[in-house]
Amino acid sequence: MSEQIPEQGTNTKSDKLRVVTIDGPSGVGKSTVSRRVAAKLGFTYLDTGAMYRAVGYACAQAGIEVDNPAHQEALNTLLGRLDLRLLPPEKEDDDVRVFLGDEDVSAAIRMPEMSMVASKVSAVPAVRKRLTVMQQEMGQAGGVVADGRDTGTMVFPQAAWKFYLDASPEERCRRRVAQLRKRGQEVDEQETLAQIIERDRNDQERTIAPLVMAEDAILIDSSSLNADEVVARMLEIISSG
Ligand code: DC
Repeated sequence: MSEQIPEQGTNTKSDKLRVVTIDGPSGVGKSTVSRRVAAKLGFTYLDTGAMYRAVGYACAQAGIEVDNPAHQEALNTLLGRLDLRLLPPEKEDDDVRVFLGDEDVSAAIRMPEMSMVASKVSAVPAVRKRLTVMQQEMGQAGGVVADGRDTGTMVFPQAAWKFYLDASPEERCRRRVAQLRKRGQEVDEQETLAQIIERDRNDQERTIAPLVMAEDAILIDSSSLNADEVVARMLEIISSG
């Protein structure tokens, strides 16, 4: 059963796109919250991080080093031919399925080592340009919940509802370790914390589309809230217009 939300044209946000953006640092719970908000609203969940991960994976497979000037032409060719598709998960709480051509890369892109690779490719202007356009096309008709780092600032600046989800690095580390262990992966807590801090720095300090809170976003600190409480708070805000 979908939530009651204001229709476009019947409220003060009539010039806005019926898109919810949920940005924030790594491991803050954006994907769980975004999936549930999307399910409640009957919207499509757009996992933009999965797209950066897929490009990182494609580059690794092709032996392309994105910071190597000699590889720029190969990178541009790869981006020009990029056949990237996101499909809904098979079960509600699962991750979005990701295909590069016919290859299902859903599991491969979510291996821990792909996180740093994705962070690195996400600082490359040509990659951001290509993926931003794809994301805007996916959201142009509205009815989307987008999760990422720049969805409220760069991808959908005209989104009707923008949230910035935050939590301390230690709390995010605890959650990430639990998530990976649940998937049966071995993880070292200290190493995970160091990676989270390094990724925060990469994502916040890059010159192009850095992780910043949009001026008109609502900040929710999830350090002491569980996912359902965050979802409830967001839905309350969305339904109030
Ligand atoms: O959300 P995630 O961990 O799957 O994202 C992987 C990387 O992609 C992350 O380090 C930052 C980058 N990213 C980005 O720069 N912009 C987005 N909109 C989404 C992700």
